[in-house]
Amino acid sequence: TEPAPEAAVPQTGAPGLILLSRIGTVDPASLDDYRAHGGYIALRRAFALGPAAVIREVTDAGLVGRGGAAFPTGRKWQATAAQPDHPHYLVCNADESEPGTFKDRVLMEGDPYALIEAMTIAAYATGAHRGYLYLRGEYPRALARLTHAVEQSRTRGLLGDDVLGQGYAFDIEIRRGAGAYICGEETALFNSIEGHRGEPRSKPPFPVEKGLFGKPTVENNVETLVNVLPILTMGAEAYAAIGTPTSTGPKLFCVSGSVARPGVYELPFGATLGELLTLAGVRDNLRAVLLGGAAGGFVRPDELGIPLTFEGTREAGTTLGSGVVMAFDDTVPLPRLLLRIAEFFRDESCGQCVPCRVGTVRQQEALHRIVDRTGAAAADDIALLREVGRAMRDASICGLGQTAWNAVESAIDRLGAYQ
Ligand code: NAI
Ligand code: SF4
Repeated sequence: TEPAPEAAVPQTGAPGLILLSRIGTVDPASLDDYRAHGGYIALRRAFALGPAAVIREVTDAGLVGRGGAAFPTGRKWQATAAQPDHPHYLVCNADESEPGTFKDRVLMEGDPYALIEAMTIAAYATGAHRGYLYLRGEYPRALARLTHAVEQSRTRGLLGDDVLGQGYAFDIEIRRGAGAYICGEETALFNSIEGHRGEPRSKPPFPVEKGLFGKPTVENNVETLVNVLPILTMGAEAYAAIGTPTSTGPKLFCVSGSVARPGVYELPFGATLGELLTLAGVRDNLRAVLLGGAAGGFVRPDELGIPLTFEGTREAGTTLGSGVVMAFDDTVPLPRLLLRIAEFFRDESCGQCVPCRVGTVRQQEALHRIVDRTGAAAADDIALLREVGRAMRDASICGLGQTAWNAVESAIDRLGAYQ
């Protein structure tokens, strides 16, 4: 696959950046340059603290998962570390596939050693000696840079039998996805690594107890892991002071669509949607904003005061998800856009459970009928969409089916689509 152009990072070099501080300024091929830009200070601190204290720091910092679900990272680490069954595994979920999400790609392409350092800390804290980095197949540049970084780290004693001369063994294997959205679901991802079909498993048991190869596994998103570095370098208290009391730290947002400066932005949690869109150069004729990607929901132009926090978006009846912010101006045909989202879910359903396998097809068919009627919906189409949407949400095994109706529902209820 030919690498796509590097994603834009409009704030490159701006003061005060934490997660993006090295992007565009460090040489991603040079371990020495990474060290010259603060690399490996966090790992040294982790070794000085010991595993239990590292978990305490991550817990006290209030770090929650950045893949979209916002589960407390410290709780996940603690639960895995406490499992008597061994070996423990660490899995980095780099199968970033939510439409409109490209923040992990920017981190991996621009600062690959940071992810390796963060994975080493997570593994050390949770008692793992082997880590898997499951990378989206369509990220060839990230693959090349991470592969080089892993090799260099091994050569320089930062991965292998004796990391940093501390008597701790850890190594990373990179696995490449093959283009299936569902393989980003953590248990489908485990199946894929194990050589099985990428189908989600029922939870519980959660991966912290029975994950990869049936063993206790910590699975974290790329951005989640990279946040561990500033937690250890600045300390939990200083990190927790960024953002809001329940959404702490910096957050990456992927802004695309009808804006002048699309790209990845870093802001502390708590900035408003309007502030972010102003930075990105939003146009006057804004019609709608999709938050959280295809699995997320639409909001109206009069809702730009929504704070970009997990609690703020929840209170506003929407979701922050993985940080997708897609702006659509009034030239975008909404019925066609909704049909495109429905086609995506129909194509990406793994087909394992009936509500999702059949529901995503029925949803796409109804939206197709609406587009054929040049955007007007019959009452029975809307009733059918609601019924199918409810069944998918209530009875699907995994998040794909449970969220496949979110965007369409929000377009009907918030935007008045089809009226
Ligand atoms: P989830 O809420 O089921 O789980 C989140 C994490 O917490 C998982 O790792 C799970 O194992 C863990 N967990 C939950 N309860 C637990 C417990 N009691 N004990 C131990 N661990 C527990 O959410 P899921 O299905 O993993 O993720 C859904 C999210 O993923 C959505 O918000 C969606 O937006 C996002 N997503 C992100 C994509 C991306 O490319 N970044 C792609 C697709 C979806
Ligand atoms: Fe597969 Fe959809 Fe069921 Fe998830 S909800 S297991 S994607 S069929």
